[in-house]
Amino acid sequence: MPPNNKTNQGYFMKKKKSLSIINKLNTLVYNSTFVYPLVIKGGQGCYIEDVDGEQYLDFTSNIASCPLGYSHPELNEIIKRYAGIGAHKIAGQDFYCEEHCQLAEKLLSISNSNSKLFFINSGAEAVENAIKIAYRRNGPLPGISCINAFHGRTLGALAFTFSKEVQKTNFPEFPTKRIKFCITNNDPEINTIHKIVNENKISFIITELVQGEGGVNVASKKFITNLNKVSKKYDIPLIIDEVQTGLGRTGKWWTYQHYNIKPDIITIAKALQVGAVVFDKKFEPPKPGVLSSTWGGGSRIDMAIGMKTIDIISKEKLIEKVNKSGDFLIKNLMELKNRYNIIMDVRGLGLMLGVEFLKKEIRDKIIYKLFKNKLLVIPSGVKTIRILPPLIITENEMGKGLNIFEKILKEFNH
Ligand SMILES: Cc1ncc(COP(=O)(O)O)c(C=O)c1O
Repeated sequence: MPPNNKTNQGYFMKKKKSLSIINKLNTLVYNSTFVYPLVIKGGQGCYIEDVDGEQYLDFTSNIASCPLGYSHPELNEIIKRYAGIGAHKIAGQDFYCEEHCQLAEKLLSISNSNSKLFFINSGAEAVENAIKIAYRRNGPLPGISCINAFHGRTLGALAFTFSKEVQKTNFPEFPTKRIKFCITNNDPEINTIHKIVNENKISFIITELVQGEGGVNVASKKFITNLNKVSKKYDIPLIIDEVQTGLGRTGKWWTYQHYNIKPDIITIAKALQVGAVVFDKKFEPPKPGVLSSTWGGGSRIDMAIGMKTIDIISKEKLIEKVNKSGDFLIKNLMELKNRYNIIMDVRGLGLMLGVEFLKKEIRDKIIYKLFKNKLLVIPSGVKTIRILPPLIITENEMGKGLNIFEKILKEFNH
């Protein structure tokens, strides 16, 4: 969605500083997945301020990476504290620091007992290392992943990603068996997994529980129970990718807790500020040095902020709040669906919601118009809008966002 889109030119011409930065950036860097011409300066609570001084209500949490919104006083304190230490970023898998130990202890306190951890920089790298752990144990056999899955863009993780063609074309593949991501318990393909594991030797099964990039699709309980059963019966590690869904986003610390399963390996990133792999101790690689990197686990500020984020989510009872806020939003979005026939579906879990439209073109126009009206949302799948507000969002702020949403929907209701 380029800023020089004709219908929007007038509005964006006023955003002089933003435009000059974007125009210059476009000559310098690859145009990756920028959504709209928002150049972030700072933020407060659930609002982001751009470099032209405009305030936007954020229903994206920077793609689930800022669960506490912006300028949380306790996080600001940490940033100040680290300004004076002189070694804020270290080679954190080669040298030790206390934050590494503290974050590990904190994260394990809310994860499976009998697990160990490995920290890395990003979500894709968490996935890379999760699949390396599985390959190391079981050899380079095919991994099972789902249609419309997103597990990141590094080449290993990308082999198991399947949400959009543009992400995949001309890149080499790892051995993969692809299954349908079933969203209903009576899907005819819900038992395909049994056939695949009967006929093939498999290294691991990897899946999200709510597909983020793939369209905010919520997995059926029976589908996930089936994967879990197969994993336990055939001793195939089940990797649950919680990069987007983790740390309370869907109304529990981990989305797998909605499904009553015990994954062998979990991948985490975004809200945690660093990437992490939590794995059952029996999957620990037998020798040191199988996994490492320079910065992985090495940004001490990020680890301290990740740790504090977990504390604040507990202390401020944000998971309870997510459940209430999610119910409020979904109820109101459903009412909008009943009134506006361009909305095909409303779905999601907790504060990870999707609104599916009749057509991609309508969805894209709506995202842009919402941006012009100071509400930030992001696309997902082919024709869905993804709503991921900060976990701290108030009813008042949700109401404000919903009013903006309805104002734009009215423009389409001819
Ligand atoms: C489920 C899931 N896995 C992996 C990733 C990749 O994370 P990153 O972009 O930090 O590499 C993402 C990113 O959106 C994600 O949603």
